[in-house]
Amino acid sequence: MSNKTTVTESATDKQTLSQTEQHYFNSYDHYGIHEEMLQDTVRTLSYRNAIMQNKDLFKDKIVLDVGCGTGILSMFAAKNGAKHVIGVDMSSIIEMANKLVKLNGFEDKITLLRGKLEDIELPFPKVDIIISEWMGYFLLYESMMDTVLYARDKYLVEGGLIFPDKCSIHIAGLEDSQYKSEKINYWEDVYGFDYTPFIPLIMREPIVDIVENVNVNTTRSQLIEFDLNTVKLSDLDFKASFTIQAKREDWINGLISWFDIEFPSPEGKKPITFSTGPHAPYTHWKQTVFYLKDDLECEKGDILEGHLTCSPNKMNNRDLDIYLDYEFIAKGVDSERRSKKNKNQYIMH
Ligand SMILES: C[S@@+](CC[C@H](N)C(=O)[O-])C[C@H]1O[C@@H](n2cnc3c(N)ncnc32)[C@H](O)[C@@H]1O
Repeated sequence: MSNKTTVTESATDKQTLSQTEQHYFNSYDHYGIHEEMLQDTVRTLSYRNAIMQNKDLFKDKIVLDVGCGTGILSMFAAKNGAKHVIGVDMSSIIEMANKLVKLNGFEDKITLLRGKLEDIELPFPKVDIIISEWMGYFLLYESMMDTVLYARDKYLVEGGLIFPDKCSIHIAGLEDSQYKSEKINYWEDVYGFDYTPFIPLIMREPIVDIVENVNVNTTRSQLIEFDLNTVKLSDLDFKASFTIQAKREDWINGLISWFDIEFPSPEGKKPITFSTGPHAPYTHWKQTVFYLKDDLECEKGDILEGHLTCSPNKMNNRDLDIYLDYEFIAKGVDSERRSKKNKNQYIMH
């Protein structure tokens, strides 16, 4: 193989992709989205620290960067001793990555290939390490983990490493009365007209926003955990149960969710981790809020239990269908009136 960096013609003919896939990859053509990701220091420094912490493991290894974007993770790997890095991306941002790799003196260490990873034949039959920043809102939105698993099964050597390799989704109760009622009640009187048929649509859409930790008013529950070394594609279509407990007298208007990430670490060393939760520093993933149909009037110790089902949407597998059922079990004063059972369906698109 040539040891010069080459952005070959795309292995994938964009015109053959569905409209939604074209739209997805077009969204990564623009520099703005990469600027936002690069400036997310929690995200980017976690990758850099995890690679630096594992310098010994990267030394002389063949590394695959799945969805390399501007090439930042490829350059971290090359700078920390990798023998060779292959960066793959379908978006035209890879042309900029090519310039950056040359400008920063890594053209002999990094090979960039354009196309969908699934359509590319890599210049190496196997790689020692996969690095990828594939996480979407609510962790699984965008379904890019599918591509990492494809790369793992096809290219990763037995015992190879994936950065990051552990991730988990968490859920808690949220007081958000004012914003929720503004968002919902607005439709009751739009310039004097009744626009309430919009309300069910609004209730179906999870909201990605920054949540203040003081508004989280229950214990938290881990919905699910994935180990990228072993997880199967079918595991990403899951049903999880949760039980959370109110921490104070308040209203629970919705559920907030976030995800945590962990990288492999050398024996005896604490792994690099980060959280996208409301208790942690800001990341561009913010948090995801699911408004409940009820506003639950809670007292300290009341229990909210339920199930969350998450599946890739049948029409566009990068969207998520999320189904929530819950039972709120109030205790003490007025428990019968306050207890509620309900369900709601959401779509993240
Ligand atoms: C979240 S961005 C991460 C970019 C870069 N690694 C970083 O950390 O800044 C994901 C990138 O993966 C690319 N991508 C997603 N799915 C892909 C696939 N199946 N094949 C090739 N590239 C893909 C997107 O075009 C996008 O540039």
